[in-house]
Amino acid sequence: RFTRHYKFDIKLQNVTRLCQTKGIVTVNGQFPGPRIIAREGDRLVIKVVNHVQHNLTLHWHGVRQMKSGWADGPAYITQCPIQTGQSYVYNFTITGQRGTLFWHAHISWLRATVYGPIVILPKRHVPYPFPQPFKEVPIIFGEWWKADTETVISQALQTGLGPNVSDAYTINGLPGPLYNCSAKDTYKLKVKPGKTYLLRLINAALNDELFFSIANHTLTVVEADAVYVKPFKTQTVLITPGQTTNVLLRTKSKSPNAKFAMAARPYVSGPAAFDNSTTTGLLEYEVASSSTNNKNKKKQLFTPVLPKLNDTLFSMKYNKKILSLANPKFPAANVPKTVQKHFFFTVGLGVLPCSKNQTCQGPNNTRLAAAINNVTFVQPNTALLQAHFFNQSKGVYTTDFPANPAFKFNYTGSPPNNIAVSSGTKVVVLPFNTTVEVVLQDTSIIGAESHPLHLHGFNFFVLGLGSGNFDPKNDPKKYNLVDPAERNTVGVPSGGWVAIRFLADNPGVWFMHCHLEVHTSWGLKMAWVVLDGKRRNQKLPPPPSDLPKC
Ligand code: C2O
Ligand code: CU
Repeated sequence: RFTRHYKFDIKLQNVTRLCQTKGIVTVNGQFPGPRIIAREGDRLVIKVVNHVQHNLTLHWHGVRQMKSGWADGPAYITQCPIQTGQSYVYNFTITGQRGTLFWHAHISWLRATVYGPIVILPKRHVPYPFPQPFKEVPIIFGEWWKADTETVISQALQTGLGPNVSDAYTINGLPGPLYNCSAKDTYKLKVKPGKTYLLRLINAALNDELFFSIANHTLTVVEADAVYVKPFKTQTVLITPGQTTNVLLRTKSKSPNAKFAMAARPYVSGPAAFDNSTTTGLLEYEVASSSTNNKNKKKQLFTPVLPKLNDTLFSMKYNKKILSLANPKFPAANVPKTVQKHFFFTVGLGVLPCSKNQTCQGPNNTRLAAAINNVTFVQPNTALLQAHFFNQSKGVYTTDFPANPAFKFNYTGSPPNNIAVSSGTKVVVLPFNTTVEVVLQDTSIIGAESHPLHLHGFNFFVLGLGSGNFDPKNDPKKYNLVDPAERNTVGVPSGGWVAIRFLADNPGVWFMHCHLEVHTSWGLKMAWVVLDGKRRNQKLPPPPSDLPKC
């Protein structure tokens, strides 16, 4: 076991995109941020020093954080923010995971510019379950705004359905030539013929699921959310914010006299405003320097064809293809076979009463909110994990988060009259090692929409998904308990449901939320409190001494 040290200085950096320069919050002045590389089993010690005027926290998205909840990072859930001039050391071990994850700021919308890849290699001498790639390349998708992040947030929260749309999507921070003034800001992947490349795809965009494709090349999906999957070939990958997908790219056996565009564009399932533009990069074959002839010839450019913007059928089919690899050499993790606690969570929008000094963008003098089981989560003023650990939950949170929705209706039909939600800082308390099943049901209130639900601290198994209303009698009979996908983020299908299961074996407080930032801001979030077990090694250790104070 190895300890890897990183120093992350949070500072402002001027960056120019789309012909405009603005100061953005970065790590070490880099955009996208630095890559973290570790091996399974390594300890990471990351010292974060905040030099900017914003409060900030960082989150290591998808890292299980076994008994290291103090290092998880969501602001006011596991820690108070790191204030200007302060620092905090994130200290955790990567246990039982390898693959691609990412890190990002976890406060307000700062992850718009503060994000970077986490590459976890297998243990030494442990091979991949696929051909050893010639090269590994992180490809991280993002969004770019001309306005500064604060303006974007206040626009999003005040106007409701827009114009919180970005001005460009980016590939490794670059918009590409389809945007004004961006031809020079194009991501180029130079490849050799006849080789296998491992592309580590990460969707760090704030508000959009993305289709991704490379012209005239087939991709083989081998890993999702740092878990090996049964390999399958596809022209197009669909990736929600918060998801990561590793794909193999086999290059053509001879360098063609052509260039191939790679492109990413949103999958749009809901009524919200969005940026329907396309970011592109280039796949370029290296040509031997002797063939100068070839070099001077103008190369033909091929462009990929992506599914249409609202192709929910593609989404449903694609997500059903993601299954754990589950072979004798790489067995799947154990799916809990029995369930101790069942939950049925509706996820979607709703409205709250609106007072005079607020922006009432909802119908009949209301404001829009997003909710789980009709509860809009209210961010506390102190971190839930501290309140829990020191038995000071009074006045911070209540333990009555409902296991079922407040009222029943045809969730995917026409909305009921009563679309009001309530608000509160409510959690579910789970005894150590509880087996939990959650059916997540999208609702059509305001409009059906896919929600990428992300759970901190665990991987969950995706037992089944479907369209329409979940059928509690028949759908569970079709659950996959053999080789279900194991992930940390799943798209609740637009106008449909998904069933997940996990074992609550990690004591702490764990956030669960939609990874569309606008929905999180509107309250589509809740938290699980997992109690300590009886044995010594089943308890959450006390916080590090430098844990920030609120
Ligand atoms: Cu990627 Cu709660 O976050
Ligand atoms: Cu959502």
